[in-house]
Amino acid sequence: MPDQRVTQRLDDSEAGIAAAAALLRAGKLVALPTETVYGLAADATSGAAVAGIYAAKERPSFNPLIAHLPDLAAAQRQGLFDANALALARAFWPGPLTLVVPVSSGCTVSELARAGLATVALRVPSHPIARAVLQAAGRPIAAPSANRSGRVSATSAAHVLADLDGRIDAVLDAGPTRVGIESTIVACLDGAPRLLRPGGVPSAAIEGVIGRSLVLAGESGAAPISPGLLASHYAPAAGVRLDAERPRDGEAWLGFGPEPTTLSPATLQLNLSPAGDLMEAAANLFGYLRQLDMAAPATIAIAPIPLHGLGEAINDRLRRAAAPR
Ligand code: TXA
Ligand code: MG
Repeated sequence: MPDQRVTQRLDDSEAGIAAAAALLRAGKLVALPTETVYGLAADATSGAAVAGIYAAKERPSFNPLIAHLPDLAAAQRQGLFDANALALARAFWPGPLTLVVPVSSGCTVSELARAGLATVALRVPSHPIARAVLQAAGRPIAAPSANRSGRVSATSAAHVLADLDGRIDAVLDAGPTRVGIESTIVACLDGAPRLLRPGGVPSAAIEGVIGRSLVLAGESGAAPISPGLLASHYAPAAGVRLDAERPRDGEAWLGFGPEPTTLSPATLQLNLSPAGDLMEAAANLFGYLRQLDMAAPATIAIAPIPLHGLGEAINDRLRRAAAPR
């Protein structure tokens, strides 16, 4: 069990932002909103603070964390950007993109946050509250998604508290997150950018900027796989059945687009986006999985989600939710 802590509730006022930054500078654990999901933040330069993240999440500690920075200049002090990394940072930062690059000689992100790797994952979020806290903290901030290991990511302060109340020092509540799905992770290590995790920036948009196809993680022999990308991740307690046409008896139903006419009113059901909008579906995904899971059905049946745009990241998360565990 991690230490018991009293979890302060902070709001998104100037006072809340200042309090969050002061706690981070003091080595404390603060859940912060970003445009993707809530992050469990700590001073990335302090091994002790980072160890607190792993303890609170009960996360396997071989898993490296993303260091969050307020701008590209701050990120360039931590990592070495080749031409592709620079073009991607300029195109998508601030925003839901994480770049894995070689560490710079002046990198201050702790070995523990990097899990001992000679590379570092860097992200400049666009959420105004996150950026204000990062500015005020004045150092790289490590922040994995603010859920307990193995559970779906938190997209609201209430979800954070459901998993982490009493285990972290504070949560800054700025309402639900806009994108709802984590950042896209691209490794720029050897000239051929590799997609490590689909996410909030569709891979087609990335390919448009680098002018070539992304290498998929694991396709190239030299691929440094992302250790956090366990097959079973983001898992609700219920079983998950993908690409379902309609729910079977007793299954909960997560729809997308127009519902099958045969849907019984007795079925526990939510629809990610009745209009079939993938952005709306991404924003609702983790919250709806949590909501259905709370009713403790044996299985959640999920409608097919198209693979284009954000559908790529949604399907990636759903495959993990459905993986055997
Ligand atoms: O949207 C997001 O990215 C959210 C918000 C809070 O910023 N953060 C997030 O962090 O999703 P996390 O820790 O749940 O996922 C980070 C992923 C992990 O799969 C980890 O293995 C990978 O990034 N990663 C971190 N450093 C890496 C590195 N040096 N090389 C390869 N993969 C790395
Ligand atoms: Mg996560």
